[in-house]
Amino acid sequence: MLEVDSINTFYGKSHILHDVSFEAGADEVVALLGRNGVGKTTTMKSVIGLTPPQSGTVRFEGEVVSGDSPSSIANRGIGYVPQDRGMFPELTVEENLTMGLGTAKRDETIMAEIFDRFPRVEERMHQKAGTLSGGEQQMVAMARALMRDPKLVLMDEPTEGLMPSLIPEIADITEEIADSGYSIVIVEQNVDLVLDIADRIYLMDNGRIHEQATPADLRDDETILEKYLGVGI
Ligand SMILES: Nc1ncnc2c1ncn2[C@@H]1O[C@H](COP(=O)(O)OP(=O)(O)OP(=O)(O)O)[C@@H](O)[C@H]1O
Ligand SMILES: [Mg+2]
Repeated sequence: MLEVDSINTFYGKSHILHDVSFEAGADEVVALLGRNGVGKTTTMKSVIGLTPPQSGTVRFEGEVVSGDSPSSIANRGIGYVPQDRGMFPELTVEENLTMGLGTAKRDETIMAEIFDRFPRVEERMHQKAGTLSGGEQQMVAMARALMRDPKLVLMDEPTEGLMPSLIPEIADITEEIADSGYSIVIVEQNVDLVLDIADRIYLMDNGRIHEQATPADLRDDETILEKYLGVGI
């Protein structure tokens, strides 16, 4: 489904990603773990085309997409939930969701599925996004990523910055989406959530992927998480 092959990404002259390679198969949930600033978000943005890699390739369903615009990459079936949620606070929830459509037409079957999954989003459709709680805004960001019925969803730290009381609900929704047959690439500091939902985990440091592991590997050998996150389980 997604094959990232040896990408190198820069911000100006700063070389951020060094020969990053990873893949996510159909229905697979893959996680990127690593400390702050190691390049997890840059990896996501490189896949969706917001920071195009200077070398290496990103393939989606066998076709090279690196070099294409973010909207054309999204159009192929990749949804993106950005780390900052990317809300337009002055626009209504409905208008924010429409942003997720790009040039595609609204599909009522997909809308019904989204409302089923996020009843709170349906209740808030005509409210300005800026008046919603952090957890509700995260739901809108997730719903927006599903508007074009993607095959792959990139999720960058869905539980970050939420009030602790809201984390279980967003974690549950993340898990439900992961169980619904999408391919997922997730970045998340909530290790318990990652160990629950990921099939495979890539461990990043300093702009590089150093190892890959399964949740069982990380449970069996706590030194791996200590090395890459500075925490145990
Ligand atoms: N727009 C930018 N311009 C210049 N440097 C940037 C920019 N965005 C990020 N960086 C730098 O690139 C590196 C990787 O950042 P990135 O946001 O990808 O890390 P991250 O692993 O997602 O971190 P976090 O866990 O804090 O979200 C960091 O050194 C960061 O300072
Ligand atoms: Mg980040």
